[in-house]
Amino acid sequence: MNPSRKPLVAANWKMHKTPGDTVSFMDSIQKETGPCEDREVVIAPPFTALAAAKQVLKQRGYKISAQNCHWEEKGAFTGEIAPVMLRDIGCEYVLVGHSERRHIFGETDEMIRKKAASVFKAGMVPIVCVGEVLDEREAGKTFDVVGAQVSEALNGLSATQAEKIVIAYEPVWAIGTGRTATPQQAQEVHAFIRERIGAIYDKEVANRVRILYGGSVKPDNVDALMSEPDIDGTLVGGASLEVSSFKRLIQFLK
Ligand code: 13P
Repeated sequence: MNPSRKPLVAANWKMHKTPGDTVSFMDSIQKETGPCEDREVVIAPPFTALAAAKQVLKQRGYKISAQNCHWEEKGAFTGEIAPVMLRDIGCEYVLVGHSERRHIFGETDEMIRKKAASVFKAGMVPIVCVGEVLDEREAGKTFDVVGAQVSEALNGLSATQAEKIVIAYEPVWAIGTGRTATPQQAQEVHAFIRERIGAIYDKEVANRVRILYGGSVKPDNVDALMSEPDIDGTLVGGASLEVSSFKRLIQFLK
C-alpha cells in the first residue's frame, strides 16, 4: 500500500448467500469491525441480495458492489441488469470482467470495455478484473496479456474517469486454488499495470488508480501482500464468506 491511496478490501461472494445470509453477515461484520476510516470495505453479494445488503449498511466505510452488469441502459436483453438499476438500489461499484465471466460466459475485452464505460456513465466505479492463465504465465506472456486487458478496458475513458477506476489483478491460476501469487510476483504485475496507465494517461493519473490483488487471499498472506507498494487492496472470494476470516482481511497490517 501507499498512504496516498485509500486501501480497498472487496468481498466477491460469487454465487453464495441468500438475502437472509447477507443481512446476518453484514450485521456481524459491521458490529465486530466498527467504522472504517482509513480503508474502504466493499461487499459484492449476488444481485438478489443487493437491496438487503444496502438496507443494513450502517458503518462508515462500507459500500456495496454488483458482480456484473450489461452495458446498455435498457432494452430487450432478457436476464440482464442495467447499470442504472444497480445505482438506483445503492451500488457504488460494479465488478467487470471477472475471469469467471471471461472464461465461463465468454466475455471479451470489447464487452468489458463497454461495461466499464457504462458503469461510469451511471455514476458508479468499475472494478475491472484482469489476469493471465497458467499457460500464459509459463510461456512468459503475463505482461502482454495483462497489458492488453488493461489498455482495452481503459480505451475511450477520460483521464478523470481513469483515475477513479479500480483494477483488480487476479492471476487465474491463483483463484480458488489455494496457490496465491507471491507478494513479489503480484507487486511486479501491479507496478507494470501502473506503468501502463501512466503511458496511456500520465503519472498523476497512474498514481491515483487503486490496484487490488485477488487470488487465494487469506488471513495468513494478506499482510505480506499489503506491504507491497503497488498493492492497494484485495479482492477476496473464499475467505470473504466467513465473518472471522473477512474481519482479519479488513484489519490487514493492524
Ligand atoms: P478466491 O479468493 O476464492 O481465490 O477468489 C478470488 C476471486 O475470484 C475474487 O474475485
